[in-house]
Amino acid sequence: MSAIEATNLRFSYDGERSILSGVSLSVEAGEALVLAGRSGCGKSTLCRCLTGVIPASVQGEFSGSVSVGGAEISSLPLGEAARHVALVFQDPDDQLICSTVEDELAFGLENLCVEPEEIRRRVDGAMERFGISDLALRDPAELSGGQKKLVTIAATLLMGACAVVFDEPMTGLDAESRALVLAAIEDLKRGGYAVVAVEHDLSLAPYASRILYLRDGKLHDHP
Ligand SMILES: Nc1ncnc2c1ncn2[C@@H]1O[C@H](COP(=O)(O)OP(=O)(O)OP(=O)(O)O)[C@@H](O)[C@H]1O
Ligand SMILES: [Mg+2]
Repeated sequence: MSAIEATNLRFSYDGERSILSGVSLSVEAGEALVLAGRSGCGKSTLCRCLTGVIPASVQGEFSGSVSVGGAEISSLPLGEAARHVALVFQDPDDQLICSTVEDELAFGLENLCVEPEEIRRRVDGAMERFGISDLALRDPAELSGGQKKLVTIAATLLMGACAVVFDEPMTGLDAESRALVLAAIEDLKRGGYAVVAVEHDLSLAPYASRILYLRDGKLHDHP
């Protein structure tokens, strides 16, 4: 079985207009699937379905299933789904809530009632892995776009996920920040994570194992 297996995803926010009308995909461990599509075609909606945000916390009509590492994501509460698949939002400011980087990384684990020594160990390990140890006491709000992205990636992965979904990871970043994010994606692939990244353009194409195009609610092999 693939690391991420999505089958026949259908979703409508209002019960009338279909945003996704039969999306199926599979991603292997160590593979990065890039999904391209123009603005408004449903990329963020698909990210929400792949990570259980839909149907857990968005109103609408949903059907289909998502399995990550064998866990049925679409029927899990959001907190549980996050232990299998991480969602990195397009805008890190929507995701970062604490006043220091290390608090941000510890936040999700504290909610899971993980022991303090174990939290310290995992937070230090994650900061080292993503090269952000020197930012530990900084306020996430004051970091560069790329640094913020690294903090959100580290924070979401600390929950134990084996798959990561990026919603437009390159949008709004300068060249230096883009390089940081690209290096992180490469690192995740090498580490055996299954990666899905949506982008409105093809800026991630050189890093993709495969590219698919979202159009009219379905995935296509060609633009
Ligand atoms: N919460 C919501 N309620 C109702 N309609 C929504 C909601 N979120 C998105 N939509 C609509 O669903 C469609 C797909 O939106 P979505 O945000 O998934 O597209 P996108 O491809 O991510 O766009 P962008 O490239 O601008 O980020 C759009 O027509 C949008 O207006
Ligand atoms: Mg979007």
